[in-house]
Amino acid sequence: MHTHRPTRPAWRRLAIRIRDAAYRVATAVERLTKRGDELVPPAHLRMYYYRTFDRQAFERASQGARTELVDRGLQPEHRLLDIGSGIGNLALGLTGYLRGGYDGLEIHPEALAWCRDAITPRHPQFRFHHADVFSSAYNPSGRVAAAEYRFPFEDSRFDFVFLGSVFTHMLPDEVAQYVREIARVLAPGGTCIAGYYLLNGPSRSALDAGTSSLAFPVEHSAGRCRLQNAAVPEAAVALDEDFVRKIHTDAGLEIREIRPGRWPTGVPNHQDLVVAAKA
Ligand SMILES: C[S@@+](CC[C@H](N)C(=O)[O-])C[C@H]1O[C@@H](n2cnc3c(N)ncnc32)[C@H](O)[C@@H]1O
Repeated sequence: MHTHRPTRPAWRRLAIRIRDAAYRVATAVERLTKRGDELVPPAHLRMYYYRTFDRQAFERASQGARTELVDRGLQPEHRLLDIGSGIGNLALGLTGYLRGGYDGLEIHPEALAWCRDAITPRHPQFRFHHADVFSSAYNPSGRVAAAEYRFPFEDSRFDFVFLGSVFTHMLPDEVAQYVREIARVLAPGGTCIAGYYLLNGPSRSALDAGTSSLAFPVEHSAGRCRLQNAAVPEAAVALDEDFVRKIHTDAGLEIREIRPGRWPTGVPNHQDLVVAAKA
């Protein structure tokens, strides 16, 4: 595979190991005091994903993701693919709603293991699949390049595809390949909803003025994206909007809506949402 494998400096790697050990202590305390709920991810994973130990933050994220999809047409009988399923926030938001089947695809081994162990035994129609795809942020030992990855699903298998904060961690050629794969696995009439940090007039102005909730100081990939951190490219990626429009058209997906996020005006994590349909 052809992946750029930058490395963090040694002091930074050490700091991350100490931080992760501290998060695991929180999980151990939660278990010892029996405060752990079987269907809430352990404290260290909540912290890793949501930067807080607060369980209610996880539950709010679950309900928010569910509402986002149901408001945009997800029906109980739909077959849903959740790419970058993380620690199961969307899955857990949908267990009482979705009957058509849920498939999560995830590259982060520990998040995947938790979802498989905690969710599938209680909700067998919710399945989780491993993709050993390289990401400097989430799977640095991954063996397959995202730009060459083929999803392990047959053509036209799904009615809905969701990516919550995943294309915000992928480089342009990788996103282009995933959009092609999404077009392949969506049934005709199917919908894809994905979060992005889109680079367009207003967001570029906000970035230049320093008023955005995130800084993307590193120009990358011939103007098609900007990075937060050159040493860890997938830590956060903003993609040029024209590029995103073109890869949808090339893949045979029609963009139906772009809901602008409020990240350029200083609201953290409020991403742009692109809703696309397969003709
Ligand atoms: C910010 S988290 C979001 C998780 C979840 N979708 C949510 O909304 O809470 C990004 C997730 O995308 C996954 N991810 C990153 N790159 C990926 C890739 N190339 N393919 C599949 N998943 C990926 C990460 O492992 C991580 O679980």
